[in-house]
Amino acid sequence: MKLIIDTDPGIDDALAIAYAALHPDIELVGLTTIFGNVTTAQATRNALYLAEKMNLSIPVASGAEKPLVLPPFAPKTQVHGLEGLGHLPAPAPVGTASSLAAAEFLCKMAERYQGELVVCPIGPITNIAHALQLDTNFSQNVDKIVFMGGALDVRGNVSPYAEANAFHDPHALDFVLASGADVTMVGLDVTLQVLLDEQDFNQIASRKNPIGGFLKELGRFYLDFYKSIGLSGCGLHDPMAIIAALYPDLFTMESIPLEAITEGEASGRTCRSQSKTRTPSLVTLGCDTEAIRDTFFSIFDR
Ligand code: RIB
Ligand code: CA
Repeated sequence: MKLIIDTDPGIDDALAIAYAALHPDIELVGLTTIFGNVTTAQATRNALYLAEKMNLSIPVASGAEKPLVLPPFAPKTQVHGLEGLGHLPAPAPVGTASSLAAAEFLCKMAERYQGELVVCPIGPITNIAHALQLDTNFSQNVDKIVFMGGALDVRGNVSPYAEANAFHDPHALDFVLASGADVTMVGLDVTLQVLLDEQDFNQIASRKNPIGGFLKELGRFYLDFYKSIGLSGCGLHDPMAIIAALYPDLFTMESIPLEAITEGEASGRTCRSQSKTRTPSLVTLGCDTEAIRDTFFSIFDR
């Protein structure tokens, strides 16, 4: 599977990038970066650093610096840390970002790999909205868009209604949901069914690949935040979008026309659309938690 991850790294983003980097059936074509857990500049810096840490020689293309319509916002550093990688200080990657902007890179790769490229947005989906606006063929050139975000039948995590990625750019999400592209939503309905606790991070660190120890270090900060809000572990949010793209049969999915609320108290809420013309999206509503945990942990034996 040829894959581009659109990311706001971010601790669970780092877990997702590591899973994709190590999986033998994934050809990670590049990373595109977006604001969310951090600013876009920090996301680009962190993505370059993570790519080097994981021995990935792939392009990193920097994305939009603000949401499609909403004003820019300051990241909440209490969740992923001041620099987005937990307790780690600002990393200093050797590499530099691509000369192409994220949307240009996405369109170019989708055109090059005609119908083969999978895109996994695991931050606010702004870059994908820009790519759809930039190239009217993008929605047909890309195989599928499998995004981490949204909450259909469960409470949000930044408001009672909205999951963080949807909340941070609801206009972009609604645009993508209305685009006619092949879209799969991997939201809190399933990602909060798989929580990683301290023992799980110890397990990752005990496996063969040394990247596990690095990820455990990142996880310390993330777990402390989840404990502070009364949760025993952190959701496997971003890795589950990659796993759903590769192993859709591990999920129960329904074909539902979706829309994102773009204003008011419920801004960022993902809900069933009443529109008769909106192309349905695939929505993950259940999952095989044991099989997902197994494929995630076993990747660190490679
Ligand atoms: O709601 C979880 C999502 O928001 C994840 O992608 C996490 O990295 C944050 O971006
Ligand atoms: Ca993310």
